[in-house]
Amino acid sequence: MSRKFCVAPMMNWTDRHCRSFMRLISDTAILYTEMITSGALLYGDADYHLQMDEDESPVALQLGGSDPKELAKCSNLVDKYDYSEINLNCGCPSDRVQNGMFGAVMMKNAKLTAECVSSLLNSSQLPITVKHRIGVDDFDSYEFLCDFIGTVSDVGCKTFIIHARKAWLQGLSPKQNREIPELNYDRVYQLKNDFPDLEIVINGGISSIEDSINHLKVLDGVMVGREAYTNPYFLAEVDQRIYGLDKPVIKREEIAEKFCIYIDNEMRKGTKLHAMTRHMLGLFRGVKGAKRFRRYLSENAYSANASIDVLYKALSKTEGAT
Ligand SMILES: Cc1cc2nc3c(=O)[nH]c(=O)nc-3n(C[C@H](O)[C@H](O)[C@H](O)COP(=O)(O)O)c2cc1C
Repeated sequence: MSRKFCVAPMMNWTDRHCRSFMRLISDTAILYTEMITSGALLYGDADYHLQMDEDESPVALQLGGSDPKELAKCSNLVDKYDYSEINLNCGCPSDRVQNGMFGAVMMKNAKLTAECVSSLLNSSQLPITVKHRIGVDDFDSYEFLCDFIGTVSDVGCKTFIIHARKAWLQGLSPKQNREIPELNYDRVYQLKNDFPDLEIVINGGISSIEDSINHLKVLDGVMVGREAYTNPYFLAEVDQRIYGLDKPVIKREEIAEKFCIYIDNEMRKGTKLHAMTRHMLGLFRGVKGAKRFRRYLSENAYSANASIDVLYKALSKTEGAT
């Protein structure tokens, strides 16, 4: 599986409806789920968290957890679905995650992270990958980062997805932790130089196909988060310009039309309109009628009995957009 272009795991954003929407735009991008904690899978409704549409693939499931045995049990549950990879979250700095002793705090304990990865590798047939930062708190030297990657790759992890900024575990909100610590792409480039056999995917602040192509001159893959969500049409050229597929670039209207069919099907099963339309608010970004489309959907899709006609009406406000 090629991870040349990935869409990042984003809590509350990359749910199955969002992924189905994005899959209409790119056949090839690897889509990551929101982080799902081992506790949610083992003590909650696993099927609710894991269900996916067959058309979404390839999708990587991101797990949050730090108990090797629990993670192994989770991977057994995951086996029944069509995921292509399990990714372990070692980069999220939120308080909730720190209290559970997983996420970015795991970077301070490379040995435990390696045990978790080893347990997942032994219990699952899927590739196991790790997403992390370039450092955490004062543990931000290049040696620390190499130590972390060295320890985790020694047990067999071959793919590292690296958000090219450190995380502060105290004092910054998760949002600030995505903005304030400086991006350091050179550090990730250096890693590829020092660990040439590992697959290194870079993440953080990538906002165009050109940026992606430039990173791919050195690295194995790019992962894009906020830009892919807030400006999803950005994905429309991934198949052609990143993966070299010979096919026409899909038009915005065509994406909307196809997503209407998905929405109609889902509404018949009881899914609310806004649970799906909220992911398409950025589809017309930058073209005529975009604001009116957004505003109409935001004002009308949330009412309890909103029908798909709300979406048709919103789309009529973008007439002429390409
Ligand atoms: C709303 C939101 C939720 C996020 N949730 C997760 C998550 O569940 N797991 C994770 O590893 N990273 C999460 N992230 C971080 C992203 O995966 C990514 O590392 C970060 O946004 C930097 O990439 P970008 O600059 O392309 O957005 C989240 C980011 C956002 C904006």
